[in-house]
Amino acid sequence: MKVVYASRTGNVESIIDKIGINDAIKIEDGSESVSEDFIIFTYTDGYGDVPSEVIEFLDKNSSNLKGVIVSGDSSYGDAFCKAGDVISEEYNVPLLYKVENGGSDEDIENIKNEINKI
Ligand SMILES: Cc1cc2nc3c(=O)[nH]c(=O)nc-3n(C[C@H](O)[C@H](O)[C@H](O)COP(=O)(O)O)c2cc1C
Repeated sequence: MKVVYASRTGNVESIIDKIGINDAIKIEDGSESVSEDFIIFTYTDGYGDVPSEVIEFLDKNSSNLKGVIVSGDSSYGDAFCKAGDVISEEYNVPLLYKVENGGSDEDIENIKNEINKI
C-alpha cells in the first residue's frame, strides 16, 4: 500500500525510513496529488489538530484514502494523536496505529505489519 506522509520535525520520516519504504510521498505544502490507494501517516499539531498541509492535501485527494497512522506525544494528554481520530472520523477510514514520537522498535514492526496487511 502506498504511504503518503507529513513530517515536520522528522519523527514520522524516521519511521518511514526504518521500515524501508522508499516510494512514500511526502506532503510538503498540500499541493501534492496521488491517484492510487494510499494510507496517510501524519503527526499531530496544535492541540489535537490535523496539520494544515495535510488538511489541504486530503481536501483534494481523499477518494483513495484507505487508513490513517498517526504520531503524537502523550504529554498532550487528551489530545494525544488526535489528528488520527479526526481523519478517521471525517473520512470514515480505519485508524490503524497511534505511535509516540519516533516510536520503539516494536512500534515500527507493528506499523510495518499494518501497512502490509491493508
Ligand atoms: C507545536 C506542536 C504541537 C503539537 N501538538 C500535539 C498534540 O496536540 N497532540 C500530540 O499527540 N502531539 C502533538 N505534538 C507532538 C508531535 O505530533 C509529535 O512529536 C510527532 O512525532 C511529530 O512528528 P514529526 O517529527 O514527524 O513532525 C505537537 C508538537 C509540536 C511541535
